[in-house]
Amino acid sequence: MSKKFNRYTVTSALPYANGPLHIGHLAGCYVPSDIYVRFLRSKEKDVLYVCGSDEHGVAITIKARKEGKTPQEVVDHYHQLMKKSFEQFGISFDHYSRTSAPIHHETAQGFFTDLYQKGEFLEQSNEQYFDEEAGQFLADRYIEGTCPKCGFEHAYGDQCEKCGSSLSPSELIHPRSKLSGRTPILKETKHWFLDLARYQSFLKKWILEDHAEDWKNNVLGQCRSWLEAGDGLQARSMTRDLDWGIQVPLQDAEGKVLYVWFDAPIGYISSTKEWAQQNGKDWEPYWKSEDTKLVHFIGKDNIVFHCIIFPAILKTHGGYVLPDNVPANEFLNLEGEKISTSRNWAVWLHEYLEEFPGKQDVLRYVLTANAPETKDNDFSWKDFQSRNNSELVAIYGNFVNRAVVLTHKYYQGQIPQKGELTGYDEEVLKALAEFPAKVASSIERYRFREALGLMMDLARLGNKYLADTEPWKTIKTDEVRTATIMNIALNIAASLAIVSEPFLPFTSQKLFDLFQMKDSKWQEAGQRDLLPEGKTIGQMGLLFEKIEDHVVDNQLEKLQNSKKMNEAANAPVTPMKELITYDDFAKLDMRIVTILEAEKMPKSKKLLKLKVDAGVGQRTVLSGVSEHFEPEFLIGKQVVMLINLAPRKMMGIDSEGMILMAEDKDGKLKLLQPHEVTANGSTIS
Ligand code: 2FM
Ligand code: ZN
Repeated sequence: MSKKFNRYTVTSALPYANGPLHIGHLAGCYVPSDIYVRFLRSKEKDVLYVCGSDEHGVAITIKARKEGKTPQEVVDHYHQLMKKSFEQFGISFDHYSRTSAPIHHETAQGFFTDLYQKGEFLEQSNEQYFDEEAGQFLADRYIEGTCPKCGFEHAYGDQCEKCGSSLSPSELIHPRSKLSGRTPILKETKHWFLDLARYQSFLKKWILEDHAEDWKNNVLGQCRSWLEAGDGLQARSMTRDLDWGIQVPLQDAEGKVLYVWFDAPIGYISSTKEWAQQNGKDWEPYWKSEDTKLVHFIGKDNIVFHCIIFPAILKTHGGYVLPDNVPANEFLNLEGEKISTSRNWAVWLHEYLEEFPGKQDVLRYVLTANAPETKDNDFSWKDFQSRNNSELVAIYGNFVNRAVVLTHKYYQGQIPQKGELTGYDEEVLKALAEFPAKVASSIERYRFREALGLMMDLARLGNKYLADTEPWKTIKTDEVRTATIMNIALNIAASLAIVSEPFLPFTSQKLFDLFQMKDSKWQEAGQRDLLPEGKTIGQMGLLFEKIEDHVVDNQLEKLQNSKKMNEAANAPVTPMKELITYDDFAKLDMRIVTILEAEKMPKSKKLLKLKVDAGVGQRTVLSGVSEHFEPEFLIGKQVVMLINLAPRKMMGIDSEGMILMAEDKDGKLKLLQPHEVTANGSTIS
């Protein structure tokens, strides 16, 4: 029998404050959790939705090092940026905190002390990798090497991002320090380990038996592989040798901080406490009452931490509810490739908003329609365009627009009175009444794609009803019939406003304003008389606009450019030649010249004969670029030339210098040009 809950605490993973948010973040856990929460609020449930920035761990210190900033500067910057992006996309947290908040430090240390006093930690000294050059232990992502499970060469010390395996640094093949690139040595250090083996049987029953039916298969699958592994759950260190993080609250733990995965999930609790303080509420029922349903929305790389480690911590501490569900999503790819911050293969939310202002709902819609709920899925710009044009514009927008425009045209914006209903009207109204429960059932089972599809079916119902009944024709012959049709169409649109609110909050708000139905809740959706007859509705602009080909082509080009930039940045380079003196360099006389004439050399595949104006006179140069440039392309171009190279006779012609070019890794030549027109003969130094 399913349990009765009176309160909901919904969390979504605290994102690391080390970079801007992209579509993978939204699709992974923020849009699904926001849909869930908006639905619960519409059902008038007591729900609290918390999140915050994850500001500790090696992800932050590595970023700071790379940018030449302090970790504090990095987290301050990205915390604000992420908070703003969430707000702009309508992710409706009740509270968005950060793990650098004092209340979080206190709460996380409190948990550690509690477990320590209960004797839950194994205190162990062992050898860990240490970078002698940097003088630092190499925790988690400070070390990389080959994954023992899948052979990926850039697996981190705590996790392989390719196959998702959780690792410990000692498992890596050919470990390398991320700080110096050197092979680390082993050095003794003391840490506090959570002995997960103690919770094995409890976790096994709680997850694999009690939740076998209601947790998602991808989540159960990962848990099973942990809980049923031959050697069982291993002890995991809950502390690190780092100078950034929450101090371990023990006398003999100087220079040691809590493991980021110990403190981060406790951040959900700290965020709740901060919310309660700021709003005069009591935080405890949201974490401690048995009738509270706790739901963690996360991405698949966070499963072990939310299903195994955090529940073990909560259980041991005692007094806290455990998650009722952890509906983790798989990963979203972009145009067939893994989203990658470092390779700039991403659609960044702040850039999307600049390029598609006001189109937050379109992205929310596409990310839900394609959500990686059961397996990795792909976002493509062509799909984005087609879902916008053939679903949002052609179905949802078209239906609502027709209903509203005709109401203004025929009835000066007043909801007309229904007359006698036909069998078809009754059929449609019956279908309308069934929609809210169907959508609700899918949302309650975390099937957001399915729920979105049903929501669109409601818009389809409205569209079809208008197409079938053709009020623009009946208006000429039957006023009562037309009024009935329009009344029904408007009530379908009003229900759509409520049912689509979790998915398309900005669009729904426009409809709420239009129909002045400020306080309407989920239970009113599906009613045939949601809008009172005689009520005047407002005016409305277009809800969705068609997206043209060139717009998505630009996005594809932007991605291709970022791929090229990335390849250029990572291309293997020719090793540096031996050092020369300034005097050696000063002997080279390089000038800006303009190519006046260019022609192919007869009987040569490679050579072009160029005449250039070198400022100091005209020169003839034979250049081996025939396979790279058409002669006409070169005429008029300014380039760089070494003009004091001793003349060389080739194919009977004296070549009086050398045009300098860049050669990429594939042997392709590129012209070197001044960024603006420059006098011929200008020197290069
Ligand atoms: O994977 C991540 O981005 C982590 N920062 C998620 C933390 S979730 C929670 F435990 F706080
Ligand atoms: Zn791997």
